[in-house]
Amino acid sequence: MAAVQKDFKKSVVYQIYIKSFCDSNGDGIGDLPGITSKLDYLARLGVDYLWITPFFPSPQRDNGYDVSDYCAIDPVYGTMRDFDTLVAAAHERGIGIMLDMVLCHTSTEHEWFQRACAGDERYRRFYILRDGRGSMRADDPGEPPTNWQCAFGGSAWEWEPRLGKWYLHMHDPSQPDLDWTNPEVRAACADVVRFWRDRGVDGFRFDVVSLLSKPEVIEDVPGDGSACRSLVADGPHVHEYLQELVREAGIDGMVTVGEMASSTLEHCIRYSRPESNELSMTFNFHHLKVDYAGGNKWALTEPDIASLRDIFRTWQERMQEGGGWNALFWDNHDQPRAITRFGGRELVGERGGSWEHVGKMLAIMSFSMQGTPYIFQGDELGMTNAGYASIADFDDVESKNNYRILLEGGATEEEALHVVNERSRDNGRTPMQWTAGEHAGFTTGTPWLAVPDNHVRVNAQGEEGVPGSMLEFYRALVRLRHELPVLAEGRVRFLDAGVAAPQVIAFERTLGGVRTVTVCSFDDAPCCVRGLELAGMQCMVGNYDEAPAPAEDGSLELRPFEAAIFLR
Ligand code: GLC
Ligand code: CA
Repeated sequence: MAAVQKDFKKSVVYQIYIKSFCDSNGDGIGDLPGITSKLDYLARLGVDYLWITPFFPSPQRDNGYDVSDYCAIDPVYGTMRDFDTLVAAAHERGIGIMLDMVLCHTSTEHEWFQRACAGDERYRRFYILRDGRGSMRADDPGEPPTNWQCAFGGSAWEWEPRLGKWYLHMHDPSQPDLDWTNPEVRAACADVVRFWRDRGVDGFRFDVVSLLSKPEVIEDVPGDGSACRSLVADGPHVHEYLQELVREAGIDGMVTVGEMASSTLEHCIRYSRPESNELSMTFNFHHLKVDYAGGNKWALTEPDIASLRDIFRTWQERMQEGGGWNALFWDNHDQPRAITRFGGRELVGERGGSWEHVGKMLAIMSFSMQGTPYIFQGDELGMTNAGYASIADFDDVESKNNYRILLEGGATEEEALHVVNERSRDNGRTPMQWTAGEHAGFTTGTPWLAVPDNHVRVNAQGEEGVPGSMLEFYRALVRLRHELPVLAEGRVRFLDAGVAAPQVIAFERTLGGVRTVTVCSFDDAPCCVRGLELAGMQCMVGNYDEAPAPAEDGSLELRPFEAAIFLR
């Protein structure tokens, strides 16, 4: 069984986007030896597990989420020996390794798909194949079978002449979805997970796992076809399939997290409550859509804090009631940086500005809610959006597709670039900022994606050991989370901060006689909160140099983007 088995409720997970973390050989791409070389940094930060994004052989159409061989290592990232070295070195430091399993789809270059194309009946049954609409002959594609849209823009169906069929791809056309109704597919996927378990990993993250079980009848959805995602999410057999996977792969008791695209709260409870034997916890994304105008990621609007509060209240309180467990995060490799999104745009001088306050405020929030906090690489430094000058600087397929769609919709190049700069997944994929030096110390070669200019100010070396730096702040929060049981296990209840503070989110945690209150202001102006019963409480952490102090009547004046945790 896993070498590192910590209580996931008391753990902190650190996400590594391998391509951008640390390059050991100067080819401009992060790799496994690069991660090993930074284990002491991660151990000092105090994290318990590392989730490493896919490093399996892949044509890299979707940066490794298009896997062509699940049980090998892409030479660009290293060798199996490098992998074993990393696992052993992490274990020596008490850090567990979680791998990213992309089992909803393969790459079109995977042997299974290639065999299907070559006419092997067994492998044709691995994928979801349909005839075209209005097709008259076997070699006539006709129109796509349904109006479904894939996640990156465009139809979710691709015609493959060698198959004589359309295949379903919920993501890029190079990512055909697997047919999980086929027991042979389920067995093959369980073999993959068991392979890595036996190789010594400690846990898993399952990619878009809410989309495994497709509806029994595949037909048009209302509107432009993008609603197919919620139709596919939490499909009829998804819980059975997960239970079977856990059982067959023998990973019961290991830490697992599922990426729940478009999933509902009821289902997230079922995925993550212990008696289901499915997953330890779930990621959901509802809180990261509060700045989508009309639900459209590519239409900008300011974040709606009232709905952010409602989403957190609902998910926090109801997951707890149902016995489920949340994975807490603001950033990952699919998101623009939250620090920029929520107002931390102003980076002034050595300290201060909204950049510092927003970064620390977001950290305070995720480290004191119910669930397991995830740090995405660079969060702990306060890394921001990239701010690229040209579309040529971008790499991500989703960003490029949507840039084109924006232009087709009548946007000017400048407008489209602005939107993509705000929303691109590449914002979370820029190289890790280790130093103020060339390419931020990420590589001695040319980085695969350009390093943001602000690395001269925002970098690990410059923050290491500096009191009050973002890095030291994160370190303190990790320690607090380990040392204070109420933050890991206390009961959560959201509080009403009063009419004068509509941009504030406040909640309490209670365990035994201990109570904490977390207050986070998303307001760029001062405000005053009331009714939080703060009288007699001490500020334990705050994001300003001097702690905020409740007045006699229990009210509290907050500075712009101020946040604090109070304890009694
Ligand atoms: C997940 C991954 C994302 C990828 C997609 C398809 O959402 O996090 O990066 O593009 O799945 O595998
Ligand atoms: Ca490299």
